[in-house]
Amino acid sequence: MDRLHGKVAIVTGGGNGVGKEHALLLASEGAMVVVNDLGENAESTASEINNSGGKAISVQGNVAEWETGERLVSAAIESFGDLHILINNAGMLRDAMSFSMNEKQFDEVIAVHLKGHFVCARAAAVYWRKQAKSGTESPRRIIHTSSESGLFGGPGQSNYASAKGGILTLSITLGRELSKYGVTTNVVAPRARTGLTDYIQSMAAPEDPEDFDIYNPANVSPFVVWLCTDEAQEINGQAFIVGGSGIWWMRNWSHQNSVKLDAERWTLDTIDSHRFLLFGEMETGLPKFEAPPFS
Ligand SMILES: NC(=O)c1ccc[n+]([C@@H]2O[C@H](COP(=O)([O-])OP(=O)(O)OC[C@H]3O[C@@H](n4cnc5c(N)ncnc54)[C@H](O)[C@@H]3O)[C@@H](O)[C@H]2O)c1
Repeated sequence: MDRLHGKVAIVTGGGNGVGKEHALLLASEGAMVVVNDLGENAESTASEINNSGGKAISVQGNVAEWETGERLVSAAIESFGDLHILINNAGMLRDAMSFSMNEKQFDEVIAVHLKGHFVCARAAAVYWRKQAKSGTESPRRIIHTSSESGLFGGPGQSNYASAKGGILTLSITLGRELSKYGVTTNVVAPRARTGLTDYIQSMAAPEDPEDFDIYNPANVSPFVVWLCTDEAQEINGQAFIVGGSGIWWMRNWSHQNSVKLDAERWTLDTIDSHRFLLFGEMETGLPKFEAPPFS
């Protein structure tokens, strides 16, 4: 309890699902929370926190709009005096195979996820940089929300997978820019039964309420909230799959092998003749979908 006493957090999409659980756990650890969502559900999470002795306010707004990021950061500062933690979580799906997807489906998903994550991070970065420059140093945290679709590519989700993949690189980029101001930025890909996934039969709650509910969204929050504590200061630019009783630490693109000529340009023929040196016996088809087994 109280590992986050005195900290101020924003949770986007905190009206439901995983974001709501993050907000509740942050508050129960002593953080003051700005709960964002599109509608009334932001207020219901904030009320739940206030009714159980915590401190929260709600700010409705679409994270895809530039001014929402600024309103969220201003609300945190005006209501609670500072901002330490930003949990970028808001999201939705507009699934379709690439050959069936329309422009609106593509644009909406990129806007809410990729732009929405940036909009809030940018507004926080403006404030944190100003604070650091005026000599007020404090640990700051951004936790972004990706997806296994973003890590591995998900058929039927070229909009969502691109946005979630972009968020992985956005996180590292923000880390490179902002770590000098005390900011760490990490990504979590949750697995949970929420409004987004409740159509998936295999994620249903267990029949016996005594059994561990693997897909309960509250299972994702302890690691997310732990990343927000001062103890996690050295963890930066990392990505994790989190759900059930598992935490999987993931790695990004890495160097496989290389070939180099001696100060001359490649031709198609020299590429042919070096092909084996580059690829050898290695697997060159689509990367495996290496989602960890869940239980
Ligand atoms: N549930 C999973 O297994 C899973 C898997 C991978 C990734 N995710 C990601 O986790 C995050 C949370 O999703 P969830 O599963 O809790 O779903 P959810 O539908 O229960 O919650 C998402 C919340 O975001 C809000 N939201 C949507 N668009 C918004 C916008 N433009 N501005 C502000 N709020 C907005 C919704 O109103 C909703 O309350 C999302 O980013 C999602 O892509 C979830």
